[in-house]
Amino acid sequence: MNIVMTRELPGAVEERIRAAGHDVWVYRENQSIPSSLLREKVQDAHGLICLLTDRVDAETLSAAPNLKVVANYAVGFENIDVQACAERGIVVTNTPDVLTEATADMAFALLMGAARHLVPGHKLTEQGAFTGWQPGLLLGHAVHGATLGIVGMGRIGQAVARRAAGFSMRVLYTSRSPWDQDHTCNAKRVDLDALLAESDFISLHAPLTPQTHHIINQKALAQLKPSAILINTARGGLLDQEALLQALSQGTLAGAALDVFDPEPPEAQDPILSHPKILLAPHTGSATVQAREAMANLAADNLLAVLKDKPPITPVHI
Ligand code: DGY
Repeated sequence: MNIVMTRELPGAVEERIRAAGHDVWVYRENQSIPSSLLREKVQDAHGLICLLTDRVDAETLSAAPNLKVVANYAVGFENIDVQACAERGIVVTNTPDVLTEATADMAFALLMGAARHLVPGHKLTEQGAFTGWQPGLLLGHAVHGATLGIVGMGRIGQAVARRAAGFSMRVLYTSRSPWDQDHTCNAKRVDLDALLAESDFISLHAPLTPQTHHIINQKALAQLKPSAILINTARGGLLDQEALLQALSQGTLAGAALDVFDPEPPEAQDPILSHPKILLAPHTGSATVQAREAMANLAADNLLAVLKDKPPITPVHI
């Protein structure tokens, strides 16, 4: 069967798919595949492995009469029209679990980095401006014992909460259902208003849906403590970035750490890129050698299972 991959992936994924008897076409540029080329290539494809940056919409699916499976190389899948896939009997899969710990590590790295001004400290030292120990140099915010608010208690939110337990943090969370946690965590489910008002750090871990779009808007930001720090490793669309910039300049919150943006990547002139109170990362939450290779293998396992008429390992349910 014919397989389209929209990017080269780590590990031996192409070889594995070829060894299973399939023909593989790979877009080998280090940029998103143009949608016109994707539409052309899926015309005789039975399987597609795509990235979160590829829009798999109804138009693309209409060009792909033989397509059986769309295996997204990401846990998020808002780039895929899952309803249109379901109507055409196309299975959609994603890559949960294998990137959970890497993404939680990154959320915590950003939390620590923003709390303790790691990038300004690096720059100051590198530029030779460190003139000796000073009582008031780059004073940060205590992480140990602080209150962490987790918006969205799925796998990654839970992994962040486990890390927070090691820092003796008080953890509040919002979630549609209570988290069945073990004794090592003592997280409390609250409503969003209480979480925003009481947290020293707020970390976003909800999927992007019409309901969660701009869940952190002007009204939400106005409820934060002036010392609060916001971390987003989920999706840029959860946060109203203009409202964030306004809130930061008004002193409504102390800082933010963003791994994801809307639009992504941000325009070169976007003020979000040069704000002194924002720590930036280029959507590298899951970027460890181990997680990215495991994601590639899981995407391939899903694809190969469906092409053998077996159940996928991690299907997306609508
Ligand atoms: C995902 O998987 O959805 C992340 O954003 C990238 O790993």
